[in-house]
Amino acid sequence: MSNPVDRLVAVRDVWKAYDGGRIAVLEGVNLDVAAGEMVALWGASGSGKSTLLHLLGGLDAPDRGTLRVCGLDPVAEADRLVLRRRHLGFVFQLHNLIPDLTVAENLRVPGLATGEPPARTAARTAELAAQVGIAHRLGHRIQDLSGGERQRTAICRALMNRPRLLLADEPTGSLDERTGEAVFGLLKELAVRDRIAVVLATHERRFAEACHRVLRVREGRLAEV
Ligand SMILES: Nc1ncnc2c1ncn2[C@@H]1O[C@H](COP(=O)(O)OP(=O)(O)OP(=O)(O)O)[C@@H](O)[C@H]1O
Ligand SMILES: [Mg+2]
Repeated sequence: MSNPVDRLVAVRDVWKAYDGGRIAVLEGVNLDVAAGEMVALWGASGSGKSTLLHLLGGLDAPDRGTLRVCGLDPVAEADRLVLRRRHLGFVFQLHNLIPDLTVAENLRVPGLATGEPPARTAARTAELAAQVGIAHRLGHRIQDLSGGERQRTAICRALMNRPRLLLADEPTGSLDERTGEAVFGLLKELAVRDRIAVVLATHERRFAEACHRVLRVREGRLAEV
């Protein structure tokens, strides 16, 4: 962790409240994540896991404190654009895919933002779809897929631009136990193989414990478990 190049996330004394300060969510949070590390944010519903992931991804801004993500500041607009296009992948709890489009069309979206040549997008699509076992589904619309297939597609979409950091918000939350385990196992395998750092929010202890490090989110703070 001493090498700053290896530190993908540095959060310092971050505070966040909603509703004009009435709902205090994060109260002085600190977090460091190194390259290739898989860290679980583990806590009860409403503890602030999504809030912290949203701050890391520049989807919301803190009230106080500083964030550095892949050496950039997610609060600054110019940095945020580069982060989202080049360095970050986000897997949402409810996958956020475009239901009317096919799997292949959904996977084309990240490359449009970066001006990736279509041939390279197609090659990357084929590569990732094969890795997660949805190659036979590329021409199907999202609305016709099972929950597990949708979540595999969401993981592919997050990985299309070869991010260094993946933010995963309850990626198994909408899945049955067996499918959830398969999706989690896949995420871990890809992360370890390609040395992608992952910050994963979960309320399920078994998934948290399968990460390299578990941080309990409680009463506005993070604590190592
Ligand atoms: N935009 C918002 N406006 C008001 N309150 C909010 C907003 N976003 C989150 N909150 C509140 O902040 C608290 C933390 O929410 P957050 O979504 O971060 O929890 P979580 O740990 O992700 O929970 P879950 O496990 O249910 O997804 C909750 O009490 C929630 O109601
Ligand atoms: Mg949440």
